[in-house]
Amino acid sequence: MTDMWSERAELYRQSLAHSEGPDLDAIVAWAEGCSSAIDVATGGGHTARRLREAGLEVVSCDPSPGMRPDVICFAEHLPFADGSFDFATTRVAAHHFADIREAVLELARVARQRVAVVDNLFMGEDTELAERLRDPSHVRNYGEREWRTMLADAGLKIVRVETWDYPISFSAWLERCGCEGDEADEVRRLMGSRVDGDEVTLARIGLFAEKVR
Ligand SMILES: C[S@@+](CC[C@H](N)C(=O)[O-])C[C@H]1O[C@@H](n2cnc3c(N)ncnc32)[C@H](O)[C@@H]1O
Repeated sequence: MTDMWSERAELYRQSLAHSEGPDLDAIVAWAEGCSSAIDVATGGGHTARRLREAGLEVVSCDPSPGMRPDVICFAEHLPFADGSFDFATTRVAAHHFADIREAVLELARVARQRVAVVDNLFMGEDTELAERLRDPSHVRNYGEREWRTMLADAGLKIVRVETWDYPISFSAWLERCGCEGDEADEVRRLMGSRVDGDEVTLARIGLFAEKVR
C-alpha cells in the first residue's frame, strides 16, 4: 500500500486540489494560539507547510516514505506520548485509514488543546463505488453524524462543523490514481451530475474540536 503512495507522491505534492482551499484556511484558523502541531497522513505536506507558515512547530507523519514525512507511521499508532502537541490534524486522508476509530482516538490522545479533521464527505453509495474503482485504497467517506460520534467517543468537544463543495479537475483526479479507459468511463457514470465536462464536484467536511479530557 505505502509503495503505491510513494509512486504517486509527486502528483500529490503538485495537486491543486490539495495545495490550496478554504478547508486549509479553516485548519490554520483553528490552530490560532497553538505553538506545536502534528499533521497526520501529511501526503504532499500542504497542511504542515501552511501551519509552519503560520508560525507553528510542526511534525508531519505518514506511512509512505515517498511523501517525505518527518516521521513514518500509521494514523492508528502514533509514536508520541499523550498530549505531545497543542494541535493535531489530518486532512483529506481519513478515508484511507484501515481503522478510522483508532485513528481518531490517537489524534485526540496526542493533542493537548485542539483537533481538526477534514475529509471527503459521504455523498452516497454510487460515489463510494466510484471512489473505490478510481482508487482501490479508498476505504470509506463518512457522513457528518458518523464523524460527530467518532470525535465525541474520543473525548472531543466539537465546536464547529463546516462543509464545502470542492470543484476540481476530473482528469487530474483520475490521473492521480492511474484510472483510465473503461474504468474511468464507469467512474464518470457513477458520479452522475457531479461531473460536468472536466470538472468533478466533491464535498469536504471539517470538524473543529477541543480536548475536554
Ligand atoms: C491524499 S493524501 C493526504 C493529503 C494531505 N493530507 C494534504 O492535505 O494534501 C493521503 C495520504 O494518506 C496516507 N495514508 C494512507 N493510509 C494511512 C494510514 N492508515 N495512516 C496514515 N496515513 C495513511 C497515504 O500515505 C497518503 O500520503
